[in-house]
Amino acid sequence: MHTDLAKKLGIEYPIFAFTHCRDVVAAVTNAGGIGVLGATGFNAEQLEVELSWIDERVGGKPYGVDVIIPNKYVGQNEQDQGKALAMVKAAIPQGHRDFVAGLCDENGVPKLPADKPFEDRMSMTEATSAPLVDVALQHDNCKLIANALGTPPAHVIKQVQDSGRMIGALCGKTKHAQYHIDAGLDFIIAMGGEGGGHSGDVSSVVLWPEVVKLAGDTPVIAAGGIGSGQQMAAALALGAEGVWCGSIWLTVAEAATSNPQKERMFEAGSSDTVRSKSFTGKPVRMLRNKWTDAWDSADNPDPLGAPMQGMLTSEATTRMRQYPSKSQDITFSPVGQIVGTMNETISARDLVMELVTGYLDSAERLTSLLPKS
Ligand SMILES: Cc1cc2nc3c(=O)[nH]c(=O)nc-3n(C[C@H](O)[C@H](O)[C@H](O)COP(=O)(O)O)c2cc1C
Repeated sequence: MHTDLAKKLGIEYPIFAFTHCRDVVAAVTNAGGIGVLGATGFNAEQLEVELSWIDERVGGKPYGVDVIIPNKYVGQNEQDQGKALAMVKAAIPQGHRDFVAGLCDENGVPKLPADKPFEDRMSMTEATSAPLVDVALQHDNCKLIANALGTPPAHVIKQVQDSGRMIGALCGKTKHAQYHIDAGLDFIIAMGGEGGGHSGDVSSVVLWPEVVKLAGDTPVIAAGGIGSGQQMAAALALGAEGVWCGSIWLTVAEAATSNPQKERMFEAGSSDTVRSKSFTGKPVRMLRNKWTDAWDSADNPDPLGAPMQGMLTSEATTRMRQYPSKSQDITFSPVGQIVGTMNETISARDLVMELVTGYLDSAERLTSLLPKS
């Protein structure tokens, strides 16, 4: 498993753990893989706290930070963030607002406390993500930056590479991989449509070798549907330099996932997810539930584009997070098809070790199939 990428990053196993939970980042990094903190939910000050917390626990070992700077979005060319926010807000029809509030009310999700009124804010834009990159680069142990939903802007690529760190991005089709290659990214994460979160519709086993072929010397990390060492071996056999997993960390002991959500994941089979635009305006693979069904119904409004849909639903998702046991039927639960095998809680370290053992078993099996001379 000593791929060139693993050697460059100084990690024992090329296992990249995408997570929003700092405890999981530290645990995977300490187990010999590399934790990557999804930073989109944080502002710069909060991210600083999270990364300092991680620094204190990883003893100089590397970790990464993931941001979301989409290629195109409404308000993109507006320098004044107040104006961009107003532009996005104005594009949300009242009928959509009523529909979302109705879905929460009908399903018994309590309103937010009156003394903590909800404030609209933009997220997943260059203006919100650039300060996060600045913070990440102030931390010596942060060795990589990854971007979802597009090729990072040229000045961000330069900023990261000039600091001696690596920068890469996710892609769900070869067209997007080509943009990443042309922009000179240091690695590409090829994510098959099985994966949780924003995803395309090409399956992993088709996408990975396509991107590997296109990428040439640029290392490709395989993502989407990896939950075992056997799947990891398949990814490396198809030319990947490492694996990038998101879903499987949601149910480890260290994960901040609420208990009701964990229970739903344990119950779910591999066909219980859908790709739905209903939370962010872009297709996200998540658990199918009453919310996704309601948005799929022809009688109801269609999801708006990004970032309008995200802003439209952000108060609802805050309500759901505040009252997890009362929102189980409609909550936003991004997870991939691998959820069908996520049936128990173990520690992140044990999960890393399971992946390594499964990988070794596969390698042994394949070797045993070769003719004996
Ligand atoms: C709960 C959840 C949230 C995610 N959020 C992000 C994100 O903010 N940025 C990102 O680059 N990828 C995000 N992803 C996608 C992961 O980076 C990863 O590519 C994906 O989970 C891989 O497929 P898997 O879920 O089958 O492991 C998310 C995935 C999940 C499950």
